[in-house]
Amino acid sequence: MSVLKPLALFVKHDGHSSRASVTCRYKCGDACSHEVPNNSSGEYFRDIARTALTRRGVLRGSAMAVLAVGAGSALVACGDNDGADGTGSGSGSGGDSAAPKGTDFQAVAPNTEDVVVVPDGYDSDIVIRWGDAVLPDAPEFDFANQTGDAQAKQFGFNNDFAGLLPIPGEPNSFVLVVNHEYTTEPFMFFGYDEENPTEEQFRIAIAAHGLTVVQVDGESGSGRLTPAFGQYNRRITGATEFVVTGPAAGSDLLKTAADPTGTKVLGTLNNCAGGVTPWGTILSGEENFNQYFGNAESVTDPVVAERLSRYGIKGAASERKWERFDPRFDIAQEPNEVNRFGYIVEIDPWDPQSTPIKHTALGRFKHEAATIHITDDGTVVAYSGDDERFDYMYKFVSSRKMQSGDGQAAMRHNLTLLDAGTLYVAKLSGNSEDEIDGSGKLPSDGKFDGTGEWIPLLITHEDGRGESLVDGMSAEEVTVFTRLAGDKVGATKMDRPEDFEPNPKTGKVYVALTNNSNRGTEGKAPADEANPRSNNKNGQVLEIDDDHAGTKFTWNLLLVCGDPEAADTYFGGFDKSQVSPISCPDNLAFDPHGNLWVSTDGNALGSNDGLFSVVLDGDRRGETKQFLTVPVGAETCGPIVTEDRVIVCAQHPGELDDASADNPMSHWPDGGDSQPRPSVVVAWKKDGRIGV
Ligand code: FEO
Ligand code: CA
Ligand code: CA
Repeated sequence: MSVLKPLALFVKHDGHSSRASVTCRYKCGDACSHEVPNNSSGEYFRDIARTALTRRGVLRGSAMAVLAVGAGSALVACGDNDGADGTGSGSGSGGDSAAPKGTDFQAVAPNTEDVVVVPDGYDSDIVIRWGDAVLPDAPEFDFANQTGDAQAKQFGFNNDFAGLLPIPGEPNSFVLVVNHEYTTEPFMFFGYDEENPTEEQFRIAIAAHGLTVVQVDGESGSGRLTPAFGQYNRRITGATEFVVTGPAAGSDLLKTAADPTGTKVLGTLNNCAGGVTPWGTILSGEENFNQYFGNAESVTDPVVAERLSRYGIKGAASERKWERFDPRFDIAQEPNEVNRFGYIVEIDPWDPQSTPIKHTALGRFKHEAATIHITDDGTVVAYSGDDERFDYMYKFVSSRKMQSGDGQAAMRHNLTLLDAGTLYVAKLSGNSEDEIDGSGKLPSDGKFDGTGEWIPLLITHEDGRGESLVDGMSAEEVTVFTRLAGDKVGATKMDRPEDFEPNPKTGKVYVALTNNSNRGTEGKAPADEANPRSNNKNGQVLEIDDDHAGTKFTWNLLLVCGDPEAADTYFGGFDKSQVSPISCPDNLAFDPHGNLWVSTDGNALGSNDGLFSVVLDGDRRGETKQFLTVPVGAETCGPIVTEDRVIVCAQHPGELDDASADNPMSHWPDGGDSQPRPSVVVAWKKDGRIGV
């Protein structure tokens, strides 16, 4: 199923995200219907920002030394770019050249099918689905009789990020690592009683969170991948032991009755997007962790209450009522457990016995992911967005250098790279701010663009000691309440920064800004050049040219998403009659040719969510084509695009507001009258490699 010009054929203009309210409740604790947690005044804090900048001067010598190397690497890396200004030359162009490698497919039209739709000439299959065996002794999935013990050996629920690592010495075999972001209990159990969940349902849900590590084997002549019981297979759940590193390790803020050391945490929760590191590990972001903790309203200390509120932690019972079964989820009984979530976690997928790590030097917020750029001297730059309306963009620059080689000594060293360095938050300025009126009208210079700087918040020294660069906050406070540090230095409030990914081919960095319906509303931050639309339903994609290890950058908006026929959309200057509608960009990936791929969450244009290719350079810059759509009610996550295959995670299929396990409205992937099951999907070109 495909059309040449997939324009607004199925577009309905109700102006709302298509995400079901049940998805909002279980995925992010209804973040978008609650009051925005960021009530800070960026303007008010300008003076404090100046103080921070002055203090940063102390660092300038060492920072500049690194910058010199970083800038050199950027120039070399960008050598095959076209536009000297970094924004291409596609203004108003329909593109006369042939489709760039990797994008030579017929776009899939917007649709509301209950299947995965791929372009003509492509095939697709399921790799693994919720409940499939990961460990050899996993029992067969039995929807009506699921147990926590079974779930801990099976593929978890609501797959989000996916990473695919070739297994050395085994051609066509891979380790697939997948995040399981959240559970949606009404779709997991018949007759689920939201007020009275059972203890076994709690145990199943804990085990359905976390990550899966599973071997997958390729098939000769196709892109199909089949799970195998390999030596690396592992389930990490909401109960697996993690070690805490960085400035918050051992802090009083992290000590609990069960862990008086403040260094050992059970589990990882709400793992959204992630990244594969150049040293062969997986980084995963703990995102909407706030929703798992009950009884925040019992807190009377105003300082603690403010900290909880800034992270959206309020009220009495939590959605899933876990606090009834384990006191660590009850803030009245265990006030510090919540401070032990909201970090970037690192998994060594090559050692199933390894203890995964929570890296606190990267700060605590609703981490969408962390993704890595390595400068020429081996410095590690980790980018991470805080996915909340009006929250911030961050990066961490390591003081240690990556060691190459695949030996154990190199891995041991590289697992400490994120434990020493500097954490920054982004502040952006537009060069046409006086023309920004919230309508999305392109400024007279033809671009939403400007400059920015990285404001340092926290240095983590070689010995693990933290040093605060924020007046009035200790190092522990900056580490654990990083959002408050960002507030104090006047960081730029963004429209939900989700995936934040460096392009391995050019070094440019891209950020998906999903949407922000509160932008420009009463009492909230107005539109600015980087977030140029009030009541932003469709989101935008930001392109950054960063001095990776330094503190300056330039930026522009690559895409202002939505219906291409609408005046407030922009596709990198490309002819808007030649592009696919795209709404709510979420996850980003790059193919081997350097094209950007964008998956969407909550399409506000009436179509199912999908995966899109976006050309970045040349006269087709901005050309956006839909490669696939996921089934009804689902979100497209975790894209991986190689020359051999495209992988996506279809998260929460069938999650529509009147649906449940008792009334399924999707039967994907197994058809008939089956329950919908979140699944990993692989697509491939029937007669050759993608675009080659
Ligand atoms: Fe879990 Fe920000 O998406
Ligand atoms: Ca401008
Ligand atoms: Ca996401």
